[in-house]
Formats: sequence, structure tokens, C-alpha cells
Amino acid sequence: MDFSDDVLNYDEVAIMRLRSLYRQYGYTQYKLSRFEEYGLYAENKAFLASGEIITFTGAGGKLMALRPDVTLSIVKNTKDDGKLKKLYYNENVYRPDGYEFKEQMQVGLECIGDIGVCLMGEVLTLAHRSLEVLGGRARLDISHMGYISGLLGSEELTAEQRAELLKRVSEKNIPGLNMLCSEYGLESSFRDRIAALTALYGPYDKVIEELRRISANKETDAALRELEELREVLHQNNTERDINLDFSIVNDISYYSGIIFQGYIEGIPTKVLSGGRYDKLLRKFGSRSGAVGFAVYLDLLERSTPTNEMINVALPKGRLGDKAYAIFEAAGYGCPGIFEDSRRLVFESPETGVRYFWVKPSDVAIYVERGAADVGVVGKDCLLEYSPEVYELLDFGIGKCRMCVAAEKGFSLENHDRTLRVATKFPNIARDYYEKQGREIDVIGLNGSIEIAPLLGLSDVIVDLVETGKTLLENNLEPLETIVDISARLISNKASYRFNHEAISRLCGRIGAALEETVL
Ligand code: PRP
Repeated sequence: MDFSDDVLNYDEVAIMRLRSLYRQYGYTQYKLSRFEEYGLYAENKAFLASGEIITFTGAGGKLMALRPDVTLSIVKNTKDDGKLKKLYYNENVYRPDGYEFKEQMQVGLECIGDIGVCLMGEVLTLAHRSLEVLGGRARLDISHMGYISGLLGSEELTAEQRAELLKRVSEKNIPGLNMLCSEYGLESSFRDRIAALTALYGPYDKVIEELRRISANKETDAALRELEELREVLHQNNTERDINLDFSIVNDISYYSGIIFQGYIEGIPTKVLSGGRYDKLLRKFGSRSGAVGFAVYLDLLERSTPTNEMINVALPKGRLGDKAYAIFEAAGYGCPGIFEDSRRLVFESPETGVRYFWVKPSDVAIYVERGAADVGVVGKDCLLEYSPEVYELLDFGIGKCRMCVAAEKGFSLENHDRTLRVATKFPNIARDYYEKQGREIDVIGLNGSIEIAPLLGLSDVIVDLVETGKTLLENNLEPLETIVDISARLISNKASYRFNHEAISRLCGRIGAALEETVL
């Protein structure tokens, strides 16, 4: 029986089209149960998008989970008989999203077996066609974990250092990378290579020469060869022109070894498709096969925001925002009337193509992550606290202060053998800091005037920002430890970075130049 598109809702139409596309290429449907034994996820946490999982006790007392991921179940249940398996699925997964768990609909495919470059090309072409099926302007960007891990392998690094560097690469955070390289005492040639890799974004033609130039060893050479072979196949499939290379796409090194990729649709602020080559997962299940797959997140299609020709900039209300705006103005993005004494919060400058919003400082990252603003200026404290999915493109070097642990004068951590009570506006930063030290804490979340907490016996210490140190001094407190230095950063939405690439790169370049000229 045929149904016309007006009988089916948007999701159903998308699912039908995707299924029909995958079938045309010889993929067969794989059906799964909603539950899995929790152990499967406990053993493979780094493979999952989040470690938070809904669990329950099943028959016989077994700890079960509502499935947060499809790939692990398929790999676990697929026999390794040397034959190529081409599977597609249409299943729900259960993952945290904001403050709640959500049931999310995924359509995707997996290939398990001997995966050559032609099959890789087919999977990428299908990923690209999947985006086209969903409508709108689409971008598929690819990266290569072999290249990234080869480059990281050219220096002796601890697992923790590698993870920190990888995180900066994923944020496109070149100032952050430079700082880490100095802190770890790494060679300047390595620093230049990793910074160049992080800055790369564009089509094969533009990027491949640079990849050749910065290739560091046999592993990066092999990854480069694979990317070049793949280019031929993509060219034949007519997909090459719609694919960019972007090495800020990273994934867990212990599972992913080869090509990985992400898909974006204009107007939707986050990636809607994600996939890659995960042979290393199969090794963990004792299989010698290769594997590649991707998932399309259908629920995210509802999150579309109106597209606009202008660059939307979220500025933090207050002194920091005023200083940041002065830098935008010096960079040629002035907006007459922005300091008008009115309650207006939105100001447009059609001449420079920029629209500014004044928002609460701690909300800037939310506006940018959700795509309501393309770029924004935000303190590093907010980035560390909320870990938004954004790129961190520049360090403004303004709003400088330190995130510190402070306590009443005379307080000593050494003699403190009870659970430490920590008052703070930054519970995540405090938890992370003490977790690394292996110290148990009781976080007391407050919204301001944190310095009062130890004075009134509410907490033993505080974790808070210290700029001049005056507030601490005047309340008989002193800093005990510095957790991290803070300053304001320019952040960008990940989809805007792709669809507005020229304008955002130009803005970054001009602001970078203005920062060099400005005496802060
Ligand atoms: C911040 C911070 C400290 C103070 C530090 O507070 O939380 O209280 O500034 O500055 P200082 O080292 O120069 O004295 P904010 O002004 O944001 O107010 P709040 O206490 O209400 O958070």
C-alpha cells in the first residue's frame, strides 16, 4: 500500500525515504530489542555519547539498560563468519539531553566485514544522500583518526595529555593548544603541526596539500594515502564537491582508527549525522573484521532556527561586553547606537552585516550552542562549567581573572579529614577539580556573594573567581589554590562555522588583528 507524503508526518516521510535509499544499495533491516544487559555499556563507556544510562533490574536480578546506542548491540550480535554484512536500522535510543533523558529516534547503517575504499566511499555517499533526503543545504565533513593519532604519536605523551590535546583540537582552540604545548614542553615543530591541523577546514583541493606538508610519520602518511584514494571514489560518486575535510571532528582513539565524519543541515544548530570506521571496537569483541557506520538523529531536525544573512553576535551585558564590543568596533564591525541609553537588547548594523544581542554573561554559550547566535563572547569559566558544544576560536585576553579555592585565613586542608564542603557558583568545575585529586566533596551551589559561605559556617572553602583579590581580603579570606586562569573567548556555533564559514573566518581574522593592535 502506498501512502502519499500528506498522510505521513515529517519523521515518517524521512524514515521511509532513508530506508528506501539504504535498500537500493543492498542493506537489510536489523531489528533490536529496547533492552540490553548493562554490562555491555559498562565495558564500553568511551564508545558512548554519554556515560549516563537508564538501568533497571531484569528477570533473574540482572542489571539491564534501556539501550543508549545501537552499534554496540549490532556488533555484539553479529556473527563473524567472514561475510560482509550491510545492515540498516530504525530504532530509538535513550540518552540524556539537557536536564532530562530523552527517547531519540535514529536511522542508520552499519557495514561489518572486509571494508575497502570503495565501500567506504559508498557509506560516505549514502551519508551525504541521507542529508539531502532530509532537505535543505547539507554539509558532510570528514576527518581521519589515524592522521590525528599519528600526529599525537610523534611526541611522547601520557594518556591524559593526549586527551587534553585532543579536546583542544575538537574545540578548534589554537590558543589553548599553544598553551598546552608549552606546559608539556613539546617541540615547536609539533606545536605548529597540531595547530595547522586544527585550523584546517575546506575542500580536498585546499586541505590535502597542507596535510602533506604537516605529515609527521608513517601513520599520518598512511592516513593521507587513504584519504587520497577515497577522494577518487567520492569523485566518481559525484560527492567530492560537497565534502569538506575538518580535523576538529575527533572521536575516542581506543575505538576509532580511520575515517570519521559528521553531517550538518543549514538551520539546525548541531550535527544531525555522525559516523566512522570503528574496527577497534570489533577487536574488543575478538573479531578481525572491519566496520563502518553512521546514525542520523531525526529528532534534531525539529530544532531548526531561522537562517539570517547577518552574523549574530551574543555579547555579555556589563563591563566585559563593553570591552569586547570595543574590539569588534576596532575590527571594523561597529554598530552605531549600540550604547544608546535604552532597554533595547538587539542592535543591527546592516553596513557591516552584524547583529548584536546583549545577553546575561552566563547565557552567551547557550545562545551560541543552540544556534540563536552564530558567535559570542564568553568567559572561560562558563565554558568549563557548562561544556557547551561550540568552537573556541580566539582568546580576547580581557576579563582576566583566576578560578580559585579560597578559605578563611588560617584554614588548612591538610588537617581537614571530613568531607570538604565547597560553596560555589561553579559546581562542575569544583567537582572535576576535586575528583582529579581523589577528594570527596559536598558541593553547595550558590548564586552569588559566595565569600560569605565560610564566614557563616555554611562551607569550609569556596571555589570562585578572583580578579583583584579585594573581595577575599575584605572578608578575611585567602586564596589556597588556583584551579585555572580565566579570560574571555570568542566562540562559534558549529553549524554556523560551516554554513557561514567565509564570514566567520573573516571576522576572526579581523578581530585577531585588532587584538594584536589593541593595548589591553
Ligand atoms: C565576582 C566573584 C567574586 C568577585 C571577585 O563576583 O564571584 O565575588 O567578583 O572580584 P575581586 O577579586 O576583584 O574582588 P561578582 O562581581 O560577579 O558578584 P557575585 O558575588 O554576585 O557573583
